[in-house]
Amino acid sequence: MNVLVTGGCGFIGSNLVRHLLARRPGWRVVNLDRLTYAGNGENLADLEGHRAYRFVQGDIRNGELVADLLKTERIDAVMHLAAESHVDRSILTPAVFVETNVAGTQVLLEAARARGVSRFLHVSTDEVYGSLGPTGRFTEETPLAPSSPYSASKAASDLLALAYAHTFGLPIVVTRCSNNYGPYQFPEKLIPLMIANALRDLPLPVYGDGKNVRDWIHVEDHCAGLVAALERGTPGHVYNLGAATEKANVDVVHAILELVGKPQTLVQYVKDRPGHDRRYAIEPAKAKRDLGWTATRSFDEALAATVAWYRENRGWWERIISGEYLRYYEKQYGAR
Ligand code: NAD
Ligand code: TYD
Repeated sequence: MNVLVTGGCGFIGSNLVRHLLARRPGWRVVNLDRLTYAGNGENLADLEGHRAYRFVQGDIRNGELVADLLKTERIDAVMHLAAESHVDRSILTPAVFVETNVAGTQVLLEAARARGVSRFLHVSTDEVYGSLGPTGRFTEETPLAPSSPYSASKAASDLLALAYAHTFGLPIVVTRCSNNYGPYQFPEKLIPLMIANALRDLPLPVYGDGKNVRDWIHVEDHCAGLVAALERGTPGHVYNLGAATEKANVDVVHAILELVGKPQTLVQYVKDRPGHDRRYAIEPAKAKRDLGWTATRSFDEALAATVAWYRENRGWWERIISGEYLRYYEKQYGAR
């Protein structure tokens, strides 16, 4: 099978490409990635020359390029991850979120329809459901109520994907996953940002009261869920993916400081994110029942392994934080 992965040089995409090459040896993987600030060729540099892998630098919004790629690579299935993915950046610069996440997804859907692919996996997020109060979990029936420009753009792309399934019979499956962590995550997201700051004795900026809750899943568990959804999902269906691991942000930050061996006094409470969703929690029962998938990693062990990875791969994130990141960090955290 020939699979197109979009956004394969990002965090989840690069873990997914490795996962596919290791777990599906008969598949050929073509990775289309524009290499935005978040895309890093270094993540998969060791795969250069791999007989079942090809990297193409390009934009999902380029219809001609995408159509040509689907044809020349005889693509059977698409796993669509390319996106602008960071909520804080969507508050600073919303337009590119609409351009890539909404318009880009539509270009890809159209090309997939013209090619007649046998499966299109649209990778989405639990953030499309908005914010929960202290109880309850998101099911696939929870109404969409996105709060940030990021989640609104993802909700729009989910609806476009489902409309292509309904109207044109395109075999679309949508997954909505909770917050991921693990190796190769860009250090603007909570867990890698806090690890990188702790390792450098810098303050750890916690938004608001630190009691916002996220539901964490290790990226490898997510990748296994994506493969299960691609292979066993029913076209037109949505599957929630999560590991039932709810944590308040401040508890995650305390655990990181403990693992890094730095004092809790590094925690610095800063101005809250505008429109900050209070709590996310995923009900993954449908994926378990219909896909036979369930997350297996424990948070404590996988967080410790993640901290160890950032310690051992200091050059990887130090190269990232020396460039555009510095300007972003100053803009996002400078005035707080
Ligand atoms: P990321 O920001 O690390 O990577 C995104 C990748 O997409 C980058 O390599 C970037 O270069 C590429 N890209 C961006 N715009 C592009 C364009 N126009 N054309 C081609 N490539 C482009 O993101 P991530 O955290 O790996 O997330 C991947 C997907 O999973 C996204 O769709 C995101 O919404 C979804 N998701 C993420 C999480 C999470 O916790 N990180 C949770 C649920 C769902
Ligand atoms: P993030 O990793 O940006 O993921 P998302 O907003 O998509 O859930 O943030 C996770 C949580 O951590 C969220 O409640 C915001 C909070 N947070 C901070 O407190 N400080 C930070 O510097 C960042 C990046 C996030």
